[in-house]
Amino acid sequence: MSNIVIRHANIVTPVGNSARRGKEMDMLTVIPDGAIVISDGRITYCGADRNLKAELVSECHESIDACGRVVLPGFVDSHTHLVFGGYRPDEFEWRLKGDSYMSIMERGGGIQSTVNATRVESYSELKKKAEWFIDRMVSMGVTTVEAKSGYGLDVATEVKMLDVIDSLSKDADRKLRVVATFLGAHAVPQEYKGRTAEYVDFMIREMIPAVKGKAVFCDIFTEKNVFEIDDSRRFLQAAREAGFKLKLHADEIVTLGGAELASEMGAVSADHLLHVSDQGVAKMAESGTVATLLPLTAFALREPFAPARKFIDSGAAVALATDLNPGSCFSGSIPLTIALACIYMKMSVEETITALTLNGAAALDLASETGSIEVGKSGDVVILEFENYRMLPYYVGMNCVNTVISRGRIVAHN
Ligand code: NIG
Ligand code: FE
Repeated sequence: MSNIVIRHANIVTPVGNSARRGKEMDMLTVIPDGAIVISDGRITYCGADRNLKAELVSECHESIDACGRVVLPGFVDSHTHLVFGGYRPDEFEWRLKGDSYMSIMERGGGIQSTVNATRVESYSELKKKAEWFIDRMVSMGVTTVEAKSGYGLDVATEVKMLDVIDSLSKDADRKLRVVATFLGAHAVPQEYKGRTAEYVDFMIREMIPAVKGKAVFCDIFTEKNVFEIDDSRRFLQAAREAGFKLKLHADEIVTLGGAELASEMGAVSADHLLHVSDQGVAKMAESGTVATLLPLTAFALREPFAPARKFIDSGAAVALATDLNPGSCFSGSIPLTIALACIYMKMSVEETITALTLNGAAALDLASETGSIEVGKSGDVVILEFENYRMLPYYVGMNCVNTVISRGRIVAHN
């Protein structure tokens, strides 16, 4: 293994081993002329450059002079659907002309159309496509990504998707950490149409045992006319009993009580939340379930943005992620996520950085492993093009990442 030192860095990072909540999200630690040493993939020094011991430097095989540029923790994209068959540009055009996401889904398009394509696409085709997205994500500074199944909705295809996700994380040239989520409860498949409870039974009886050990998280699309509260609760209870950590797609299209259910179930995160109720916000602030907000989806669906300020001002923990998927949000753009969070969701740049780093890690239950630049954590850092971190949202939608270091290895240099 190798040691790497980054010198003369303007280190900007949240600190801690858990999500930052409420006002804490605005507090970043800044080390103006800092240095970071990463040994065998772990941060072993983070502090003033002038205090860096010569022997530590001499043990490093690689030295990078950041020349005063900002160094942030690697970004964590804690919500993506990056493995999928086919594409859905036709639906995108229908939506531009006024069709709604749910009416397309009710006609048998939407998620079901990607399910049809994913069932017939081979393991290697799915993998090749996912790798294309991973390369783009890495170049935007992502060092940890979550990837969901959920376009199989039968045992064989869900397993195929999770095997692709597993291989993405294990490859020899692995560039980033990949966390797998089982999303068999993404939709009721055609063959179970009108028989939601039976599909839930089938997932509990056959799917959960088949995917056990292949995913860390279990997620569900809790939505009107998809899986409503009682079916969601039943499914999540079974998943929790089987040892999965929980996530929910909650209150995305209508207010249904998904945030409340997530809090009740002790879910690690509830995601989307465009239509969360005030009670849902309060419950999440109380339970500590991370509110993962996905502004690119709201933008692409022409929906109102999730109430980030309400969450933060109530003391909740907010994470930001892309939701990259072939339907509601065909974008994995970190720069645009940052811009939308600051411009439309009224998050400060400090809150936005926390949401995309430490709180993203917390949304994956990895806050003690990554998400901040601190001794003992994984060597996941991003060197930006400029010296002042406040420039980040000012470059609207532009990628300002210069170098990406993932577990102590340089994985991208733009
Ligand atoms: O997070 N709403 C449910 N799932 C995805 C969309 C998936 C799709 O349209 O293919 C979402 O928005
Ligand atoms: Fe999603």
